[in-house]
Amino acid sequence: MSIRIFSSDIDGTVAGDAAATTRFRDAWDALPPMEAPLLAYNTGRTIEDARQFIIETQLPDPAYIIGGVGTEIFDTDSDQMIPEYHETFGGHWDLDAIEAIMESVDGIEKQPPECLHPYKSSWFLRDAAKEHIAELETKVRESGLNACVIYSSGLDLDILPADANKGNALRWLADRVNIELDQIVVAGDSGNDTSMFFVPGVRGIAVGNAQSELLEVIAGQQVYHAGAETADGVIEGLRHFGLAI
Ligand code: GLC
Ligand code: MG
Repeated sequence: MSIRIFSSDIDGTVAGDAAATTRFRDAWDALPPMEAPLLAYNTGRTIEDARQFIIETQLPDPAYIIGGVGTEIFDTDSDQMIPEYHETFGGHWDLDAIEAIMESVDGIEKQPPECLHPYKSSWFLRDAAKEHIAELETKVRESGLNACVIYSSGLDLDILPADANKGNALRWLADRVNIELDQIVVAGDSGNDTSMFFVPGVRGIAVGNAQSELLEVIAGQQVYHAGAETADGVIEGLRHFGLAI
């Protein structure tokens, strides 16, 4: 099965080791145009932050950026956000109410402004136990808010509209560009990547440095576990799935 979309997380996946990122960029840019899949980064960073980071890190230019853990999608061709995407978030989203709940959590700290936007409430909470995160989920649900809680890297806590995650954003994008889900390969390293690996039919790459919070949940999915770390693991995985990179 050919690969028509490659949707990769950024931090800890295609970025994290500058030399490996350069190897990935050079290999990606050398792909014959007819064989190159659409590149759609899928990151926890906001679009603005991600665009800056892609330039600084000299990552290959993407066709799309899914940002804010699946809360926004940017089309680099038109150089614009895709505003219709937000219309897919149903239910009751109330940022102020969410912040009021989160502010009462012990040991929590709000992420800096560049990490936040109206559909993404993000916090730092170090080494939270699974039970603690589950308690927070219950609290959010019981207050009638249509939101989900995503915990990554033993530190980052994102509260997002219930249907917003990296996987659902990718499904929406694939539908928009008319590409079947089994023609997608995804790559990631941490908890907020989980939903990408559960998009029906996708093939996944877990890079060698992937965290147990991701590996434990995606066991049983169609995943290639790369031996190499970050961008080298991505190259290894793409080769495994038949891309001539
Ligand atoms: C990125 C974002 C941060 C988010 C984290 C996990 O680091 O900058 O806001 O919490 O990803 O999704
Ligand atoms: Mg990551």
